[in-house]
Amino acid sequence: MSDIKKVVVAGGGVLGSQIAFQAAYCGFDVTIWLRSEGSIGRTQPKLDKLKTTYLDAIEAMKAAESPADPNWCRGIADFGAFDPEDCKAKTEAAYSGLKLELDLAKAVSDADLVIESMAEVQEEKTAFFQKLAPLLPEKTLLVTNSSSLLPSSFTKATGRPAKYLALHFANSIWKQNIAEVMAQAETARQSFDTVMEFAGEIRMIPLPVNKEKAGYLLNSLLIPFLFSALDLVANGVSDPESIDKAWKLGTGAPRGPFEIFDVVGLTTASNIVEKYQKVPGLVSPLLKKMMLPYNFKEQKAVLQKYIGEGKLGRATGEGFYKY
Ligand SMILES: NC(=O)c1ccc[n+]([C@@H]2O[C@H](COP(=O)([O-])OP(=O)(O)OC[C@H]3O[C@@H](n4cnc5c(N)ncnc54)[C@H](O)[C@@H]3O)[C@@H](O)[C@H]2O)c1
Repeated sequence: MSDIKKVVVAGGGVLGSQIAFQAAYCGFDVTIWLRSEGSIGRTQPKLDKLKTTYLDAIEAMKAAESPADPNWCRGIADFGAFDPEDCKAKTEAAYSGLKLELDLAKAVSDADLVIESMAEVQEEKTAFFQKLAPLLPEKTLLVTNSSSLLPSSFTKATGRPAKYLALHFANSIWKQNIAEVMAQAETARQSFDTVMEFAGEIRMIPLPVNKEKAGYLLNSLLIPFLFSALDLVANGVSDPESIDKAWKLGTGAPRGPFEIFDVVGLTTASNIVEKYQKVPGLVSPLLKKMMLPYNFKEQKAVLQKYIGEGKLGRATGEGFYKY
């Protein structure tokens, strides 16, 4: 068991609210630090929604016949050890136990772990880490959930190189329960090990990323894969349905790239394409050589065509496929 008890999540957006709710669900004492009253007004409805989401998921899990059932949420319970009443009680306790705090010094005064999950803006994160540094107790571990900014770009601002690293979640963490734990060059082994343990304690599957890599594990694989799929369509090589079939039938994977686009949402995917092509070190040196002649305009245009027709993905009823 890690010795983490008190957790502070900085930022109550999509991911911050999920991380806070999940940690509280697993019995941790959790505070969300927010910068303004306005942020409270935006975060509280997210927590209300998460409570309903967990309770609905628990109901749906009752009918699951195996852990491979699409309704099974590994972040909520293990198959074979599922007690719906206990899970509902944990959900209620998480919801009522979560604290929202505007005073940063007060929020972190006795924190064992601070999880930074603020908007993906380099300058704002840097300013936050600088403001946080003098307020943190000696013992506190600090992690960033940043998807595309390397943790080392903030090491100096944190002022605690040995106790600072990345802990990166996937969206819908109660279901897609992976946590990529990534060290930067100065992270102490003990900090890394403690964060690995903590990730397990909040029912994530901890995945070690022993040295800094843009895109961690998942996006290092996924982004070039999705780029390649768009490239095949952009160049008229084939159509989304055939490409998905090639991937699914050829590898046994449950979803093809265009089905993944529909789940992620085409607008988000388009933003990701835009952002990731600029992330240095995302692709391996060899892939980079192969991809550099492109500026991804044509690939992005494939997404833009569907977006322009209002086909934004599964959530809107149609994307590359109709639902
Ligand atoms: N959305 C995802 O699928 C996802 C997945 C993994 C990791 N992440 C990472 O998580 C982090 C947050 O992403 P998100 O999707 O939750 O974003 P979001 O836009 O939903 O939430 C951002 C939060 O940060 C707060 N914030 C912004 N600027 C701030 C400042 N200067 N001071 C204090 N608070 C500030 C906002 O009020 C909001 O609560 C990012 O680093 C992102 O890369 C996101």
